[in-house]
Amino acid sequence: MCGIVGYIGDGNAEKIVIEGLKKLEYRGYDSSGIAMNFGGKLAVEKRKGRITNLEEVLEKSDYPFENCHLAIGHTRWATHGAPSDINAHPHFSMDHRIAIVHNGIVENYLDIKEKLIKEHGIKFVSETDSEVIAQLLSVYYEGSLEDAMFRAISEMRGAYSICAIAADEPDKIVATRKDAPLLAGIGNGCNFLASDIPALLKHSREFYLIENGEVVVLDKNDIKIYNAEHKSVVRDVFHVSWDAASAEKDGYDHFMIKEIHEQPKGLTETLMRRLGDDNSIKLDGINLTKEDIDGFNKVYIVACGTAYHAGLIGKYAIEKFAKIPVEVDVASEFRYRDPFVDDKTLFIAISQSGETLDTLAALREAKKKGARIMSIVNVVGSSVARESDDVFYTWAGPEIAVASTKAYTTQLMCMYLVALYMGRVKGAIEDAYYNRLIEELKEIPSKLRKLLGTEHQIQDLAKTLYKTEQVFFIGRGTDSAVGLEGSLKLKEISYINSFAIAAGELKHGTIALIEKDTIVVALSTQDDLFEKMLSNIQEVKARGAFVIGVAKEGNTAIEQQSSHTIYIPKCMDEVAPILAVVPLQILAYYIAKERGCDIDKPKNLAKAVTVE
Ligand code: F6R
Repeated sequence: MCGIVGYIGDGNAEKIVIEGLKKLEYRGYDSSGIAMNFGGKLAVEKRKGRITNLEEVLEKSDYPFENCHLAIGHTRWATHGAPSDINAHPHFSMDHRIAIVHNGIVENYLDIKEKLIKEHGIKFVSETDSEVIAQLLSVYYEGSLEDAMFRAISEMRGAYSICAIAADEPDKIVATRKDAPLLAGIGNGCNFLASDIPALLKHSREFYLIENGEVVVLDKNDIKIYNAEHKSVVRDVFHVSWDAASAEKDGYDHFMIKEIHEQPKGLTETLMRRLGDDNSIKLDGINLTKEDIDGFNKVYIVACGTAYHAGLIGKYAIEKFAKIPVEVDVASEFRYRDPFVDDKTLFIAISQSGETLDTLAALREAKKKGARIMSIVNVVGSSVARESDDVFYTWAGPEIAVASTKAYTTQLMCMYLVALYMGRVKGAIEDAYYNRLIEELKEIPSKLRKLLGTEHQIQDLAKTLYKTEQVFFIGRGTDSAVGLEGSLKLKEISYINSFAIAAGELKHGTIALIEKDTIVVALSTQDDLFEKMLSNIQEVKARGAFVIGVAKEGNTAIEQQSSHTIYIPKCMDEVAPILAVVPLQILAYYIAKERGCDIDKPKNLAKAVTVE
């Protein structure tokens, strides 16, 4: 995830900023860089890879660091443009008089870029959206960086935190934010900026939290905050008492629960960047014409683990919305059975890391057979992304906990978008139904926030369940796929033996294992299957099971059958999986916590599985 650090004061700015960036390394990044002002002359250094690569360059340089009292730095997690030296931040304006670092996205950067090229003859050097900010600031700069910043942000759409310096103002850093974090650290004879508290804890525990639309101006003795009307505002000091370890997790005990809470944001990013005002879907420049889509006789979705579970929902969505037959397979099986794949197949690989060897090998196999390869990947520039014909990124941000949570829900969002896009282009979905679904997807982040507000109820439930050694997950339709994911979450972090099965299949054997107090999580979020689920619940209840029903608000009939009910907000059945999985993630988390497990690094597991 991108990180920002800025410093102004009498100390060695280069050293302080690099130290701050290192404190953000845990969040994941692919390149880093620094911009310094040496008494009116700006210097920028940036390198792909670890911060040590950047340090090597700085060590070999002959910059007079003792004269550098102002610097801004950045760790980049690639979004627009692959990880590279050129795409790394900071970005210079064409005249090298302004340098910026940026977290987030400028949604309308292509329009701004075109205007800057046409009207001002600006030459761009990187593939990033961020470079437009530096160029825009230099076009508007008339001696006051904050004035230029106000003008620039009035033209920008998207989510961002930006930090800028100007050669002509060697005693000032200017920053702003919208929907991306930014805080100013209060020092003694010096001041700081950062996207995240851990970057600055060594130097300060007193912060001003910058609000959306505000512009903050730092010199070494003062921090001035201006609101969107350019009026100076007074902000209360925010005092941080966390230690460094909990600050990395924003005060959460584990990355997993932090990432569970990051899902509304990740889903907003994944969805809103792709939606036009008229609800049309843009697939990031993927050229999938009606002719292409009509030409596919089959879609093959291949992935591992959690990503495979997302693929199961993808099958449901593509078949329903685009009316194309879909097969889903685990990558480790796919390539060993000579699958029916040819040049009429659309092959979709799903992978958070983009480095899972089995998924990569399956992709290569499908490519050899002539399939068109699309991937849904979280890590920009990863192997799966590079070897695909088309890439559709999940914008979950880096996932640090081994157990996947926000990558899964954003993979689901991508699957819905791909399915709806194909359905619309193909003419397989009616406009009214399409629009209803898009409106439902737009509401998912706020419904998820509401659901996360009930976390403590699930935490209490976990306290009563954590000693169990066996849990079953049952469901019908998409709920059976969500059950697989809930079961995987539970077993991988709590080491409880769990098993997921289609509810209708239970009586064909597995029901033999249900006895008094066996825990059964009964996913019952599909309205047209609700009554059938109630019958399945009765079957296990009759054998003494402790049933945890998961249903939509309003479907209270489930309470008579279940020992405990978890409600998710009302929604269309089609999109319910994104909501239904979240209580299961939370339940797994708190059960594992009660059992004292090492949640973020479960035994025997790795974040990226690069072996067969
Ligand atoms: C489970 C989990 C794994 C991964 C699987 C695929 O929580 O994270 O099952 O989903 O190893 O990894 P990616 O998505 O990186 O290909």
